[in-house]
Amino acid sequence: MIFRQLFDSVSGTYTYLLASRRGGEALIIDPVLEKVDRYLQLIHELDLKLVKAVDTHLHADHITGLGALRDRTHCITVMGEQTKADVVSMRLAEGDRLTVEGVSLDVLYTPGHTDDSYSYVMRDRVFSGDTLLIRGTGRTDFQNGDPRAQYDSIFNKLLKLPEDTLLFPAHDYKGETVSTIGEEKAFNPRLQVKSVDEYAALMNNLNLPNPKMMDVAVPANMKVGLAQDEIARRGWVVNAADALALVGRPDVAFIDLREDTERAKHGVIPGSVHAPYPHLPADIAPGGKLQELAVSTGKRLVFYCAFGERSAMAVQAARHARLESSCHLQGGIDAWKKADGPLLR
Ligand SMILES: [Fe+2]
Repeated sequence: MIFRQLFDSVSGTYTYLLASRRGGEALIIDPVLEKVDRYLQLIHELDLKLVKAVDTHLHADHITGLGALRDRTHCITVMGEQTKADVVSMRLAEGDRLTVEGVSLDVLYTPGHTDDSYSYVMRDRVFSGDTLLIRGTGRTDFQNGDPRAQYDSIFNKLLKLPEDTLLFPAHDYKGETVSTIGEEKAFNPRLQVKSVDEYAALMNNLNLPNPKMMDVAVPANMKVGLAQDEIARRGWVVNAADALALVGRPDVAFIDLREDTERAKHGVIPGSVHAPYPHLPADIAPGGKLQELAVSTGKRLVFYCAFGERSAMAVQAARHARLESSCHLQGGIDAWKKADGPLLR
């Protein structure tokens, strides 16, 4: 198991790098833009392949590294389904699993600090974002924060984890690095309340100044999606309305880049070939299954995913691999559903 806790001293942010082995797939939680070079160096040194970059919530105090990591590694960007950030290529909800090779985290929806706050539980540890901090809790006075929701997230979800669960938060300003659920239950001053009303009163009277970076970070973090203008200009896209007419055509193959859990939850375009995005380089290389499919049948490959971000990266890679007629479904299954496209479950 590879586990690294990395620190950005400017914003007091902890970033976590996880992988099951050297040479394997990795995921990173809450990366900071200014530290991206450092993460990539470490990922290279440990011979890892970054597959997923995750933000626990929309940050107000630093600019996320998700967009830069996607641009430089073609990784999948992940946030919760409530988020207003456009960077996400995969959205998770309570009960889902966040996985890369050999690593599996349970997804907990823990709103309160923001309405898009999530926590991730991996066996003996929890990554609690800004929901539960060491001897503190994330403020609830902006970004649709809600102290009552946070009370529920903490008392009815996080504190229900085993007491020896290690707590790894997204921030610390005093140099603490890790705690446990049991320790926070006993010693976190914010949690020594008798009711949700008492907690809400406590949180509503903190009178904190806004974070220095807030006016910059929040708008920036909402707009780190993949720039797709060039892909559209080259005609490598098909919109959902036009794609409807392609279902069942013998000269077209829809290629589903999503994971099994996304397919089960949202359905599949009839007749699709499943080719998960992390395996794309092998699938489009000479001898790979998508290269073979295109060459042997002459079919046009139409890539799709959840929101059109993985498929936009896939079509660029496919064109580069000489799959000249390939295109991608703009807006992904989300747009397909809005166009009343047929889905198999
Ligand atoms: Fe935060």
